[in-house]
Amino acid sequence: MTAMNGSQAHGGIQSEFGRERGRAPKRVLVTGGSGFIGSNFLLSSVPALAATEFTNLDALTYAGRAPNLSALADAPNYRFRQVDIRDAAAVRALFAEVRPDLIFHFAAESHVDRSIAQPGAFIETNINGTYHLLEALRAECPEALFHHVSTDEVFGSLGETGLFREDSPYDPSSPYSASKASSDHLVRAYARTFGLRTRITNCSNNYGPYQFPEKLIPLMIQNASRGLPLPVYGQGRNVRDWLYVLDHVEALWAVYERGRDGETYNVGGSAEAQNITIVERICELVAQKQGKPLAELKSLVTYVKDRPGHDLRYAIDASKIERECGWKPRESLDSGLDKTVAWYLDNSAWIAAASGQEHTAWLTENYSARAGT
Ligand code: NAD
Ligand code: DAU
Repeated sequence: MTAMNGSQAHGGIQSEFGRERGRAPKRVLVTGGSGFIGSNFLLSSVPALAATEFTNLDALTYAGRAPNLSALADAPNYRFRQVDIRDAAAVRALFAEVRPDLIFHFAAESHVDRSIAQPGAFIETNINGTYHLLEALRAECPEALFHHVSTDEVFGSLGETGLFREDSPYDPSSPYSASKASSDHLVRAYARTFGLRTRITNCSNNYGPYQFPEKLIPLMIQNASRGLPLPVYGQGRNVRDWLYVLDHVEALWAVYERGRDGETYNVGGSAEAQNITIVERICELVAQKQGKPLAELKSLVTYVKDRPGHDLRYAIDASKIERECGWKPRESLDSGLDKTVAWYLDNSAWIAAASGQEHTAWLTENYSARAGT
């Protein structure tokens, strides 16, 4: 694996706050820091904020990968604690030990298809786990700021037009999105009832390095590069609003710097695309980078049975975070996809290690159930 270390891959966070150290938090607790977005967050934030202590709380489920953060092994301001947020006592003990002044809560079961196959873990981690964190916050460090990282899927599906705003009604379609919606409600309720300091971001689909290869973009890159079928659900016309993961990281820091307590901010890339467009673009990029015939890769596209309850379209109105926090995405879909395909092709060992036995068995079961329709 041609592993990039944090600074090579990320170049540090670009925010104003990264340059104005006076406003940096002292002790940041990150939950789910070994997953996709959490790894990108830590790899870019830990080196940039040397005077801030970062603690990563992660249970290391199938989606959490310790080697993602090997570049931080010698960072004096980083430490890892293997804790499960379903364990209330362990969570509370860690809050007492760390005494964070800022919490970024990423930890979740995050894959919609898994929530359809096995919803239980989503209820336990996303709802009960968030409840345990809020209780620990209330008991151990009630002055700290709790930033809840949530999703645009809480709003359900859009039709052909329109955008999700912060005041769009909640209408989740899957056990995953319903569990995230529940956690959002809990966070807001704890702020109102107990006076806790909370902020919520509802973000659109992320993509970039270190994303588990069960999600559309890394799965398609992996399969295209290996000549395997590219399973497109339904007609491939569902639309997502894609955001490069480091733009999400910047948005989180922008909300820390300039956001307001008790508020919600929608975060999106203003980069809508149908799934089939994304898949075909990936075929083009893999064909270019691997010197393969494009027609051969496109012939791998296999339309499979649709995801039950599949939301047609997500699209974000990000004007509030732009106006109040001065945040805009830096990466276009073209530039972000190009970097992302390059990263996965250069890091085939990472993707092979992530695709362990449990994952392969799950994919086989999932896609064989969908194939042939
Ligand atoms: P991920 O699945 O890649 O990572 C989740 C991390 O949480 C893993 O490291 C896992 O080990 C950890 N975790 C899971 N259950 C845990 C438990 N019980 N206790 C402790 N740790 C546990 O997820 P991601 O894509 O990085 O998403 C991070 C957060 O951002 C989630 O809350 C998700 O809902 C939200 N989000 C994701 C996206 C996206 O496109 N990926 C978009 C918007 C919001
Ligand atoms: O919108 C934010 C959400 O984006 C996050 O909250 C979730 O954690 C994250 O997983 C993601 O959810 P999606 O369901 O949109 O992502 P996924 O990559 O699973 O699917 C993207 C689209 O591609 C969706 O319309 C389903 C489709 N798809 C997905 C897979 C895995 C396929 O057509 N084929 C596939 O094999």
